[in-house]
Amino acid sequence: MRIDILTLFPEMFESPLSCSILKRTQDKGLIDIVLTNIRDFATDSYRKVDDKPYGGGPGMIMMPAPVFDCAEYVQKLSPEKGRVILLTPQGQKFNQEKASQLSKEKRLVLIAGKYEGFDERIRIGLGAEQISIGDYVLNGGELAAMVIIDAVVRLLSGALGDEDSPKDDSFSDGLLEYPQYTRPEVFRDMKVPDILLSGDHKKIAEWRRRQAIERTKKFRPDLLKNGVRTNQNHARQDSNLRPTD
Ligand code: ADE
Repeated sequence: MRIDILTLFPEMFESPLSCSILKRTQDKGLIDIVLTNIRDFATDSYRKVDDKPYGGGPGMIMMPAPVFDCAEYVQKLSPEKGRVILLTPQGQKFNQEKASQLSKEKRLVLIAGKYEGFDERIRIGLGAEQISIGDYVLNGGELAAMVIIDAVVRLLSGALGDEDSPKDDSFSDGLLEYPQYTRPEVFRDMKVPDILLSGDHKKIAEWRRRQAIERTKKFRPDLLKNGVRTNQNHARQDSNLRPTD
């Protein structure tokens, strides 16, 4: 997979991209991440990329020309045309299902804007979809792009070691993850549940499934509104579950 990031602040990505799984997946050649500075496509000598909104109002808006020219240049860097995504609080809310969809693409082009937003013609002209990482306003799309990259890359086959499979992750079947324990067996009078020490894998799987449902009802009942999806991990289908069940 190739991910292009169009940004005014490429340096913001340096540290997150050079640690842990994101570094390993790049080193292994599973993912190619390419940063391009939108300001390099400014057309005037001040390298201006934003301007006041027509009609008045606060803040500065990303101008269409530098973003268009940058996106067109970047698309030509590789034969595979990328799916173009604008990071903005006005976008569709990002979630695990979206991460899974995006992880199946060969190429993504993420555009992180600064300031108050993008000229509307950028979205229309580039045929871009808009994604938000939550109902709050960040200073720019850079951190949102990082969140998306992190969530997508861990789903690429070979990104995690065998022992760290993402199939049991929270949200992978619409539920929070079951509670996890590691050594020691007793810590400050709190004991690991006996079932996890029993060695009975079938019973453990059932216990974990029940716990996942209970925790979801308790902490995130909103996730149960549409029922629970099954995946290859879980034989049972709890499709009629509601928070009140
Ligand atoms: N840019 C500013 N706020 C954002 C958000 N919540 N999600 C994505 N991009 C953003």
